[in-house]
Amino acid sequence: MNIALIGSGGREHVLCEKIRESKLVNNIICIPGNAGTSKIAKNIEIDFLNFKELLKVLKLHKINLVVVGPEEPLVKGIVNFLKKNKIKVFGPNKFASQLEGSKAFMKLICKKYKIPTAQFKICNKIKDVDIFLKSCNLPVVVKADGLAAGKGVAICKTKKEVINFSNRIFQGKFKSSKTVILEEFLKGEEASYFLIVDKNNFKFFGTAQDHKRVGEKERGPNTGGMGAYSPAIIINSKVEKKIISKIIKPTLYALKKKKNPYTGFLYVGLMIIKDEPYLIEYNVRMGDPECQVILPRLKTDILKIFNAVINNRIKNINIKWKKEKCMTIVLCSKGYPGSYEKNLKIKNITNLKLKKDTYIFHAGTKLIKDDLVSNGGRVLNITSLGKDLAEIRRYIIKVFKMINWKKGFYRRDIGWRVINNS
Ligand code: AMP
Ligand code: GLY
Repeated sequence: MNIALIGSGGREHVLCEKIRESKLVNNIICIPGNAGTSKIAKNIEIDFLNFKELLKVLKLHKINLVVVGPEEPLVKGIVNFLKKNKIKVFGPNKFASQLEGSKAFMKLICKKYKIPTAQFKICNKIKDVDIFLKSCNLPVVVKADGLAAGKGVAICKTKKEVINFSNRIFQGKFKSSKTVILEEFLKGEEASYFLIVDKNNFKFFGTAQDHKRVGEKERGPNTGGMGAYSPAIIINSKVEKKIISKIIKPTLYALKKKKNPYTGFLYVGLMIIKDEPYLIEYNVRMGDPECQVILPRLKTDILKIFNAVINNRIKNINIKWKKEKCMTIVLCSKGYPGSYEKNLKIKNITNLKLKKDTYIFHAGTKLIKDDLVSNGGRVLNITSLGKDLAEIRRYIIKVFKMINWKKGFYRRDIGWRVINNS
């Protein structure tokens, strides 16, 4: 099979590696990819949101299946467009992608099907915000309805902050929507549960815990994710049963009833409070960096799985996982998630001798001639598998010390919730 992979992050590099391992693969193109994918696939630098141009490239390269990494093309309807043009694609359609593309859409499903989630109000004017503020406790979580690249959520400790952030959304600061969602603040432990879904069935696709804050001890602003590990032990079998019966099944049923059954990866972002799962968010894709800790644990051929989803045969596939635990830590450019420099050289990568089951997944990198340079805020992920997360973390930090990139930084406390004495 010839595969086209859309995206350029660490998630796409690990997807590309897994597709490269498949017995079914012939050629892979990455649109646009990064320096890591360029070693195992052909990178093509076009704007993947320009669907017509994309279609030309897919036809030219005789692509049999398109795998979409990030949410934006999904929310903008890439699946509908490609299917209409007779190209097979793995991912949810535009309607189903609203699970991530509109928090109001997701919350209204929760309300209708009594899915456990934070209390909320959808607001279109400041008067709606005032009404909610009269009856709620602080802090309040304020969210822009549409996609906002991780910047559309604020946890507000005062009513003034709630009003200010809401006004910014009403004024259109977050381009995708001017609707505000106010939510009750849930205090618990966050974890993510992943599924792979076809029109009729779904299969478990791993659990992980991410670290979103930029600083150690969960300080500083939110980022796309500074590191993750899998599995998430807080999701025990009792919690898992509740996630499936109270959250996943009603959601998939709701979309089927709307004649738009969900297909693709589904990322269920949860708050676990005393063994009770509450839905925080859905993402219609794999997580980044969660993908970098889930896929290295996957034993089954990934293209066999994607094919099964496309043909609605996921029920017949036995997805096998390694027993080892996995951690990834993200090396970021200094300044991230604020402004940072690009095109900074990263040396000491090519001759690194890594222990077995340790991988470098590129994110914001590119090659200028033979030089590896930074091209984003999150630059590299070092991922390693093993029996003990503390040991894995020590080893990853050792690798970062060998790379010794003076323009970067990383968190040394990834996994603190499950590693003693950190
Ligand atoms: P979201 O984009 O909805 O996932 O929100 C981003 C982050 O904000 C989540 O990963 C949580 O850390 C936090 N968050 C969102 N909603 C809530 C809530 N209702 N209670 C507590 N924290 C929340
Ligand atoms: N790491 C969080 C996300 O992918 O949304």
